[in-house]
Amino acid sequence: MQTVTLSEPDDFDGWRDAARGLVASGVAPEDVIWQIGDTPADLFAVPLDVPPAPPSAKLAVPRAFIDLARSVVLSADPERFSLLYTSLDRLQREPKLVEDHADPLVRRLEGLAKAVRRDIHKMRAFLRFREVEEDGTPRFVAWFEPEHHIVRTNAAFFLNRFASMRWSILTPALSLHWDGTILTEGPGASKAEAPEGDPVEEVWKTYYASVFNPARLKKSAMLKEMPRRYWKNMPETMLVSGLIAGAQARESGMIETARASIGGNSQIAWEALRDEAAGCTRCPLYKPATRTVFGQGPVDAAMMFVGEQPGDQEDLAGMPFVGPAGQLFDRALAQAGIDRSRTYVTNAVKHFKFEPRGKRRIHAKPDGGEIEACRWWIEQETALIRPKMTVALGATAARSLFGRVVTIGRERGRVLTLANGGAAWITVHPSYLLRLPDKALAEEEYGRFVEDLKAAYAAVG
Ligand code: URA
Repeated sequence: MQTVTLSEPDDFDGWRDAARGLVASGVAPEDVIWQIGDTPADLFAVPLDVPPAPPSAKLAVPRAFIDLARSVVLSADPERFSLLYTSLDRLQREPKLVEDHADPLVRRLEGLAKAVRRDIHKMRAFLRFREVEEDGTPRFVAWFEPEHHIVRTNAAFFLNRFASMRWSILTPALSLHWDGTILTEGPGASKAEAPEGDPVEEVWKTYYASVFNPARLKKSAMLKEMPRRYWKNMPETMLVSGLIAGAQARESGMIETARASIGGNSQIAWEALRDEAAGCTRCPLYKPATRTVFGQGPVDAAMMFVGEQPGDQEDLAGMPFVGPAGQLFDRALAQAGIDRSRTYVTNAVKHFKFEPRGKRRIHAKPDGGEIEACRWWIEQETALIRPKMTVALGATAARSLFGRVVTIGRERGRVLTLANGGAAWITVHPSYLLRLPDKALAEEEYGRFVEDLKAAYAAVG
């Protein structure tokens, strides 16, 4: 039996270096004990100085596994290091292991990664600062109890958003302190050490207004998004419920305020939105899917394209339109003279809906409820990006954008107007073109698709 001692519970680098050496030396997963600090996992274990992997050792480590492992390491599951090592060991013989989502080990790792992502999201969404005075100047202090080892990973997020304040985040395992120049780490704290009372600092309120867009926030949805146990730490819950009454008329005003508060930089608001969407549970599709696939593209894009939902490859890559439909879409865009990198591409539904069939995941159409639940995100994307032209790719996108069932044949071929006043164009979905069995018809329909893209582009100059 051999023991590897990692310095911290989230020590990815330590795990990776040790695991490489062990795999290269052919050490079996059942012969390794992983422990953290000097907490012995097994009193009889013999400490091991893991030899570094020899330079010649070629390990099969796909990028997707590294990404997965980075999340899994943050889990509170005591078996995480050994599960990862078992996977790394199997990867040497089964290079496609991470793509096998039916494999129990892969499923377990994905489940852990998902729980970690949700916890990261919760900390970002629900942590609240209270103001205290320190040496005559304000310091903002927050208390948070994460379920996983996500605090260090989240430090950059808080640093980016609150760089101009002095703040401390206290958690049971460690604390973070930012003095405006240096970020330091301290020991864990107890809730009693955190200040109580009324908090909230204006910047955060405004940030929140942009993230949760209260005008759209129905009470039931709110309860779902914000578990009750977080509410007590959230004074702006009051702000939010007050705003619900103001309803839709306030929406654009709120987003304008958020824009102004971040110096007109909607990139920050968009990132906040994307981070929120990563933990979305608005409909049950988040459960089997690997991750939220959010929109992609510059926030000042003049054109926005909306597809149906991510497919198998998009779900794995975390990006919209990268699979076969995406390749056809890319080709058509190029032919229409449109530079995809200057457009914003997203989907009506942000999670992959599928039916498992053996090892394959077969695309399933999102239903009306799922489209409706996900409109929350597309409306906010639209409000932030304010594209001059929104192109609906297929019936699901059109239904989401117009809030009603749309017949493509009837609405195709002219500029339409969305409820927010923006211009829109409806065309077919690239997958429809891929499914056409008749080659001549497929070519003809592809030509019509390219013409639609050109016309939509031309309509906005
Ligand atoms: N189909 C879609 O509608 N969206 C994608 O991102 C991929 C396939």
